[in-house]
Amino acid sequence: MVYVSKLAGFLARIALLVIPVICHPGEIHDATAVKNEIHARNLVAATGKHLLDACSNSLEARALQARSIVRRANTVHELRQKRDITGKAQKFRRDLQSLDTYEAINHNMTGVKHYTPNTPEHTIFSANTSCILTPSIVSGPYYVWGEHIRKNVVEDKWCDGIDLHLEVQYIDFNTCKPVPGLWVDHWSANASGIYSGIDIAANEAADGWNSTYLRGVQPTDKDGVVNFDSIFPGHYHGRATHTHLLVHSNVTVNPNGTLEVGTGAISHVGQLFYNTVLRNAVEKTYPYNTNTQPVVTNEEDRFTPGQADNDYDPFPEFLYLGDDITDGLFAWIQVGINMTQDWTSNSPYYVAAAWYGEDGGVENPESPFMNGTISLL
Ligand SMILES: *[C@@H]1O[C@H](CO)[C@@H](O)[C@H](O)[C@H]1NC(C)=O
Ligand SMILES: *[C@@H]1O[C@H](CO)[C@@H](O)[C@H](O)[C@H]1NC(C)=O
Ligand SMILES: *[C@@H]1O[C@H](CO)[C@@H](O)[C@H](O)[C@H]1NC(C)=O
Ligand SMILES: *[C@@H]1O[C@H](CO)[C@@H](O)[C@H](O)[C@H]1NC(C)=O
Ligand SMILES: *[C@@H]1O[C@H](CO)[C@@H](O)[C@H](O)[C@H]1NC(C)=O
Ligand SMILES: *[C@@H]1O[C@H](CO)[C@@H](O)[C@H](O)[C@H]1NC(C)=O
Ligand SMILES: *[C@@H]1O[C@H](CO)[C@@H](O)[C@H](O)[C@H]1NC(C)=O
Ligand SMILES: *[C@@H]1O[C@H](CO)[C@@H](O)[C@H](O)[C@H]1NC(C)=O
Repeated sequence: MVYVSKLAGFLARIALLVIPVICHPGEIHDATAVKNEIHARNLVAATGKHLLDACSNSLEARALQARSIVRRANTVHELRQKRDITGKAQKFRRDLQSLDTYEAINHNMTGVKHYTPNTPEHTIFSANTSCILTPSIVSGPYYVWGEHIRKNVVEDKWCDGIDLHLEVQYIDFNTCKPVPGLWVDHWSANASGIYSGIDIAANEAADGWNSTYLRGVQPTDKDGVVNFDSIFPGHYHGRATHTHLLVHSNVTVNPNGTLEVGTGAISHVGQLFYNTVLRNAVEKTYPYNTNTQPVVTNEEDRFTPGQADNDYDPFPEFLYLGDDITDGLFAWIQVGINMTQDWTSNSPYYVAAAWYGEDGGVENPESPFMNGTISLL
């Protein structure tokens, strides 16, 4: 029951690091404002801890956990079947049980009724080892409005790499209940470390502002879960390898299958990081090994995922779908959110670089990252 105090510790650490980064000349947030904001978030986190403590052992929370374990096992089974993988899957992050155990769960739900926190399947598929309160950090410079609603964000072009099937579950830490009906934006760089939809010197997307690869939006289901079929992101100058996720609830679904984003109700902005051993394994494979941008380690990143410990853990759980990493990965994480929080007017935490529509992609001149108010490096 240490999630929140750990988060508070993390936020205190980033407080020191964030300030110099966003306080370039012409800054829009001064150091005091940022400090106050982070202090306020610490208080919110501390409140959240009490709430979580009170309900984490409830029957409802346990039932949700049991369903999550089965769902993840099923997903892995389906992914393996689809790809004709028969070799053993490997859980890479921690030295744990073999595939046999969770394949048994997958085929036989009986065991789930006897679920206890000590069963092996729980050890494999629970998100318990990830911090439920993943802190919100900046959306970064390359968020784009108006993306396609789709689970599969891998397009024919510019998306070679290791398949990454990502499952994210959102839990409201005020209620400890999963949050259905949220709309989640996913975006990440390709294996060469280049984002789609952004055509500037630091990130020249092939097909320019019009490109949309590795971007997409999905709604959460009744268990607060979204899935994305993506690829493992590539590294790029200035940042450790990561995936962006942003949560809205005031949206309009357009008839053309895109999402129109309203104001208000941006309840979470976050980034997932990947542990070093996994990153290194990916980087050895093609085409990641042709990416010539400088590598930034988790320790060097300005948001210091390298300081993750039991307190703050922004690394999704994952396993190899087969013997080899090139068979693809399944990764999952639970993210705690505060549904009454709203980051809409909290630039630069929330800011879009461009919007995508029938006229193609168009740069947002009001983005402090695009117009040079905040340095990109
Ligand atoms: C999972 O987290 C809950 C809440 O902190 C804790 O009570 C339980 O022991 C944890 N289970 C495992 C297997 O770590
Ligand atoms: C959630 O966010 C709201 C708005 O920022 C805040 O007033 C409230 O205290 C937060 N709730 C918790 C439990 O932290
Ligand atoms: C299903 O699992 C239960 C225990 O969890 C076991 O008793 C039963 O034999 C299994 N059935 C099949 C068909 O595997
Ligand atoms: C990644 O995208 C860039 C520009 O969009 C492109 O030049 C590059 O070939 C892509 N990399 C891969 C591996 O597709
Ligand atoms: C939703 O977004 C629209 C468009 O920006 C805005 O007019 C409306 O006030 C927002 N609703 C809420 C509840 O924030
Ligand atoms: C989708 O439809 C909306 C609403 O009509 C429009 O604003 C947007 O430009 C369209 N997007 C695309 C990619 O055509
Ligand atoms: C982007 O897409 C729009 C709409 O389809 C098109 O009119 C425009 O020419 C495209 N721009 C580029 C650079 O391909
Ligand atoms: C750049 O963006 C910031 C933040 O939205 C805005 O305040 C500023 O006016 C913009 N500057 C220019 C030159 O457009």
